[in-house]
Amino acid sequence: MQNFDYYNPTHIVFGRDRLAELDKLIPAEAKVLVLYGGGSVKRFGTLDKVISSLGERSVVEFGGIEPNPKFETLMQAVEIVRRENVDFLLAVGGGSVMDGTKFVAAAAPFEGDEASLLYHGFGPLPISTAIPMGTVATLPATGSEMNMGAVVSYQGGKFPVMSPLNYPKFSFLDPSLTFTLPDIQVANGIVDAFVHILEQYVTFPANAPVQDRTAEGLLKTLIETAPLTLAEKDNYEARSALVWSATWALNGFIGAGVPHDWSTHMIGHELTALFGIDHAQTLAIVQPSAWKLRKDKKRAKLLQYAERVWDIRDGSEDQRIDAAIGKTRAFFESVGIKTRLSEYGVAQEQLSDVIDALEKHGMTALSESGDLTLDISRAILEDAY
Ligand code: NZQ
Ligand code: ZN
Repeated sequence: MQNFDYYNPTHIVFGRDRLAELDKLIPAEAKVLVLYGGGSVKRFGTLDKVISSLGERSVVEFGGIEPNPKFETLMQAVEIVRRENVDFLLAVGGGSVMDGTKFVAAAAPFEGDEASLLYHGFGPLPISTAIPMGTVATLPATGSEMNMGAVVSYQGGKFPVMSPLNYPKFSFLDPSLTFTLPDIQVANGIVDAFVHILEQYVTFPANAPVQDRTAEGLLKTLIETAPLTLAEKDNYEARSALVWSATWALNGFIGAGVPHDWSTHMIGHELTALFGIDHAQTLAIVQPSAWKLRKDKKRAKLLQYAERVWDIRDGSEDQRIDAAIGKTRAFFESVGIKTRLSEYGVAQEQLSDVIDALEKHGMTALSESGDLTLDISRAILEDAY
């Protein structure tokens, strides 16, 4: 096992009808900015419940955070925080709203050029303070509710923003708030969570059985839960399993002490930035081909994944790996996510644009071993087309 620090201070408040408890978790004297997205939380009544739980506190609202939140939109919220002396941020929405709120939390007290915060990759932001924040999560997918990461869109790119100061103080996870999600967003959530686990698990062996067995348990939970939670959208127990799996997929626990890949995410981010394909759909496109091209680098873990997650035991090593890749693709398709780039209206000539964008963003040495070059990214995309 590799050396690691494990730190996660987020208080999870899990369960149905607990929004009144917001009152206990936000300082009584706080001036609160409530941030939300394109209106789903208004339509389904969640925002009203949140506002009424805040009681006599002074509250300002900021709506309109779009999927793949844009720097320019978030800077409008930063201006409000500064102008109104806001001292607590409450995100009510999916990953985009939670991520956007994290960026606002870091940028509002920052005295330099806020756009410079987008260029620190997976390293910590050079900040000494952030506005405290909490979340009411309405979409199980990103894990943003219990991690220190965010992704912000700017000038045709998607940029990770990480800081331990950006862990939410608390997150409310009420599975029943997710019953209103359209099927495609539930499917996106399943695939995003699944691939978060894969990027931290299918790398090379690191003698980390606790992390491996937990990752395998989460993958199997998602495989079992997916058809049920899609068929019965208001089945509380099934949705609970999805919500908690998605949180655990990216709260740092399974990623402690093991190598990480993230090449599927980095290539996927360019597909979203260039073509507007939903985040999870880009992952479903890239992941099977990335494995096909990197079979030898990941051989041991792919064989472990085949056996322990899909119960594939017969055939040669290559046959078992190919079968596991096939099962993974079929799983993504089974929830309703297409896995070929050509099915998303992208022309073959546009693959060069993706390579140019990867180069521009410094994504030239990806993966757990830092040797996934632009040529390999091109081969992955050609295979995925
Ligand atoms: O904007 P509203 O009107 O709220 O509608 C949203 C949006 O259209 C809707 N929605 C959310 N909750 C709903 C609902 N509709 C009905 N009922 C509900 N309960 O769903 C749509 C998509 O929302 P969004 O927040 O964009 O989706 P998701 O949670 O998948 O977040 C995607 C973003 O997270 C980033 C992605 O790059 C992308 O920008 N990621 C963040 C990560 C992190 N912080 O650790 C890691 C991930 O890998 C990912 O990159
Ligand atoms: Zn993701």
